Amino acid sequence: MSRYITTPIYYVNDRPHIGHVYTTTLCDVYSRAMRQHGDVFFLTGTDEHGIKVEQSAKERGLSPQALADENAAEFQSVMNTFNLSNDEFIRTTDPEHMSQVQSFVSTLLDQGDIYLGTFEGWYDEGQEEYHTETSAKEHKYISPISGKPLVRASEKNYYFKLSAYQEKIEDLFKAQPSFVMPESRRNEVLGRLKEGLQDVPISRTNFTWGIPMPDDPNHVIYVWIDALFNYITALGLGNQESDRFKARGHYWPATYHVVGKEILWFHAVIWPAILMALNLKLPACIYAHSFWISGGKKMSKSLGNFVDLQMIESIVDKYGMDAWRYFIVTQGPLGATDADFTEERFHEIYNAHLVNTVGNCCSRVTAMIEKYLDGDVPRCKYPIRESPNAPASTKLCNQSNSAVDAWLPHMKKFEIAQASELAMGLIRDVDVFINDTEPFILAKDENKREELKSILYQCLETLRIASNLLLPLMPERMSTFLGAIYPQDPQDPTHEIAVKTSLNMPGWGECYLGKTQSLTKIALFPRID
Ligand code: MSP
Repeated sequence: MSRYITTPIYYVNDRPHIGHVYTTTLCDVYSRAMRQHGDVFFLTGTDEHGIKVEQSAKERGLSPQALADENAAEFQSVMNTFNLSNDEFIRTTDPEHMSQVQSFVSTLLDQGDIYLGTFEGWYDEGQEEYHTETSAKEHKYISPISGKPLVRASEKNYYFKLSAYQEKIEDLFKAQPSFVMPESRRNEVLGRLKEGLQDVPISRTNFTWGIPMPDDPNHVIYVWIDALFNYITALGLGNQESDRFKARGHYWPATYHVVGKEILWFHAVIWPAILMALNLKLPACIYAHSFWISGGKKMSKSLGNFVDLQMIESIVDKYGMDAWRYFIVTQGPLGATDADFTEERFHEIYNAHLVNTVGNCCSRVTAMIEKYLDGDVPRCKYPIRESPNAPASTKLCNQSNSAVDAWLPHMKKFEIAQASELAMGLIRDVDVFINDTEPFILAKDENKREELKSILYQCLETLRIASNLLLPLMPERMSTFLGAIYPQDPQDPTHEIAVKTSLNMPGWGECYLGKTQSLTKIALFPRID
């Protein structure tokens, strides 16, 4: 089974910030998790055309391409810094993208799905987007994004016949109830659909930085249409002879297009209509998350509460990359409500979840193995259940198995925080088990040695399972832990399965733990004051 997940492609006239990093990290966690169950193609990239890029470039005395190159490079370097495992980084100035967009648009022109007409309406200059009369009125003729007045504009343009797709889009929403998630976002789209679909202008003549309309170079293709096509041009769907198509064509349709709530309409209505017009399959789900706000307010440059790259880097320097990833993914606005970012909250979660739960339990168990068993990890197939001296409890084993079983369905549904909570729950179970069985007391009694070994084995084995479940979120620290408890000797027959830290991982009690050298206490998350 192959899966395809995408982020929006980010405007190069903006600097990367928490919003971009957030969406991309969510997709990264999903990709890492699902790669254990099949083939995944994870796409992100940059949206490089449009009037804003042209203007910003002019202000800086650069060509639009030079500005795009500079900022695309910054976005690309962010992907590396944040351990984001995207398979491709698409840029809309890539000639392979541009020629495919032109070919799709030609097909739509030939079919009559795109036509030349005149349009008048309320235009948001910052967003390069027209509002319907209802939406303009609702926002009091002010842009909800920039706060600047909407302007009355008219232009001769090419239009996409969106109105012809009203019924088909409604049918789509009926036939595919999870086409838009979460449900409340779906309801918003359904509400707006009732207002009726109007044709959308898909070309511009007031600037030149864009993909020329086929056979009419006075018009450039509207940046939003150009951008939406990235999801299929990256797979080569517009050039079936290309190597890209041969290698990647099978990934279509997308499993998830993950987007922020502000750009849902384009993805949930305009994009499927274009795909229908082109006779292409539709994505399985558009997942629209909410927004990070900061200190209780919408992030804004003028308020100075922007969680920008510099601020993120200072947090990462202090707490580590995995702590950052864990925080944004588990505490972020994945559902229908916005999430507030504050450093205090970050610190609280870091302490409660990573220092006091994950870190503490891992170091507690490994320290006991070091101290009481000279670091000699009780070996797998250790007959816990059969051992006459072992405690009869199979509690941790059962808890682990049910966490593993529940984890995948959550991940598949993009319920990443719930999936990770299963792992945290398991770690808390280990703590409870230690308190109940008191290995620190058993250690004083030579006759209780087998029991002690069994208890510590069960704890470590459960931590192995939990850290596998947390691996997609915290690839660095969890691999450090797994690397330390698995055999390190490539000659060891269990090494192969051991390093395959996956959910096809060996089940509870099925693999050897312990290195050839002895295990010592492992500290994963330092306490930070
Ligand atoms: N270029 C378009 C998308 C085209 S996709 C075919 C665009 N780019 S953007 O640079 O503005 O990025 C928007 C995306 O960044 C949002 O959809 C969201 O994924 C992310 N975020 C931007 N600000 C955000 C927050 N404050 N919080 C969370 N994510 C938000 O729109």
